[in-house]
Amino acid sequence: MELPRLGFVALLCICAQGTSPPNFVVIFADDLGFGDLGCYGHPSSLTPNLDRLAAGGLRFTDFYCTSPVCSPSRASLLTGRYQTRSGIYPGVLYPASIGGLPHNETTIAEVLKPLGYATAAVGKWHLGFGQNGTFLPTKQGFDEYLGIPYSHDMGPCHNLTCFPPDIKCFGQCDIDTVLVPLMHNEVIKEQPVNFLNLERAYSDFATSFITTSAKKKQPFFLYYPSHHTHYPQYAGQEAAGKTSRGPFGDSLLEFDNTVGKVLASLEENGVIHNTLVFFTSDNGPSLIRMSRGGNAGALRCGKGTTYEGGMREPAIAFWPGTITPGVTHELASTLDILPTIARLAGAKTPPVELDGVDMTEVLINHGTSKREAMMFYPTDPSENFGLFALRLGKYKAHFYTRGSTLSSTTPDKECSVFATLTAHDPPLLFDLEADPSEHYPLGPSGETDIPALLERIKKVKKQFEASMVFGESQIGKGSDPQLQPCCSPQCSPKPHCCQC
Ligand SMILES: *[C@@H]1O[C@H](CO)[C@@H](O)[C@H](O)[C@H]1NC(C)=O
Ligand SMILES: *[C@@H]1O[C@H](CO)[C@@H](O)[C@H](O)[C@H]1NC(C)=O
Repeated sequence: MELPRLGFVALLCICAQGTSPPNFVVIFADDLGFGDLGCYGHPSSLTPNLDRLAAGGLRFTDFYCTSPVCSPSRASLLTGRYQTRSGIYPGVLYPASIGGLPHNETTIAEVLKPLGYATAAVGKWHLGFGQNGTFLPTKQGFDEYLGIPYSHDMGPCHNLTCFPPDIKCFGQCDIDTVLVPLMHNEVIKEQPVNFLNLERAYSDFATSFITTSAKKKQPFFLYYPSHHTHYPQYAGQEAAGKTSRGPFGDSLLEFDNTVGKVLASLEENGVIHNTLVFFTSDNGPSLIRMSRGGNAGALRCGKGTTYEGGMREPAIAFWPGTITPGVTHELASTLDILPTIARLAGAKTPPVELDGVDMTEVLINHGTSKREAMMFYPTDPSENFGLFALRLGKYKAHFYTRGSTLSSTTPDKECSVFATLTAHDPPLLFDLEADPSEHYPLGPSGETDIPALLERIKKVKKQFEASMVFGESQIGKGSDPQLQPCCSPQCSPKPHCCQC
């Protein structure tokens, strides 16, 4: 085994029974807002297992994803780089998209593979399918994959009748696409997928992966990006109708049940003291779904926007015996997960421009974050506009603001699609510690030395933007209906014949 680089890591390895490098479980919720979990203050959510993680682990208050929509946020988590570099913009990938996460990007799985890790992904991929499934997880460092390769509303609504009394899909799904497939590695197992059994299939897959790896004494990395709590919400027998929050609450409970099963499996296999479990969410709540759309708590707006509600997320790091329970107000991001995992495993970071920083100190010693700033790109980043907002320390500057369809329906007019692109020069400034809801812009009469602050922000922005090389847009490559996953490739007429 490679010698740990730091004294305290060496100490940990001794405490952590034996010499095997740590395992990693990354759990990623979908469209789950800052205010949706019990441990983040939601009054009617039932999240006992996530609450248990928070009580026994480190809960973040100032944790950010990199995009207010799915695909770009996932690209950043897995690569430690802003989506502008990998080209996962504008918007999200679709079943027929030609592009996907470029193969020359290095994922966390690819960072760990050379050290002998077993790697598996289960759930919503959403980083491309492509010609012959060339962008699937098995082509990006994962030994195994079970899941739907994109959002489950990217297909005709079907089988979503789990809520008594027999409520079908809420709202609309896509109609001119293939039925939603369930894939094992590169093979379609079911089309359409059965949503009522899906979570059970996922938790069985996850726990059997943990058990197999632990029995072989092989270190492992499990990536579980859930479909919950994205619209349209579903839940199987164990969770349907079991919460007072309605379908959103039921789908969240079903997700939480899986978290519980994963924890139980880590315990049963005796690896819980040698495993870092990290939980967060891909972007803010889809407020367009109203009461089924999640909740940003005290934060402004939600999905689709660069206000706090769009990109600040619940996050929990859990590693009993190694992470002391508590709450941290340090600034951190999904970008920091790759460098942190690399450091803890003793792996090399990829030889690319990384935007993430190692947050081991924050996790293990409740230390200070190396991250001083967080950048906010809109759903359609461009070199022309650059950053929409920048957080430096406790201050956030908005250079542009814009509402979003995905955040319409709230009483706050700035969140709505009718709040069109507005440039702010000088930028709108907020003190996020005094005013996390971004209600009261700082003015010249306050205590802050605004000219000096603006000068610092300008410098950080300029330096960052000079380092940003936009990758070729993968989503801009467009789509080809023939690329949609189909269990009966020669059938006709497509897409409806793709049913097996
Ligand atoms: C991947 O390849 C593209 C196209 O050749 C290039 O522009 C990009 O910089 C490469 N990315 C990395 C991380 O090497
Ligand atoms: C995809 O698979 C088909 C059939 O196996 C093959 O003819 C084609 O060349 C493949 N395309 C790519 C881009 O790999």
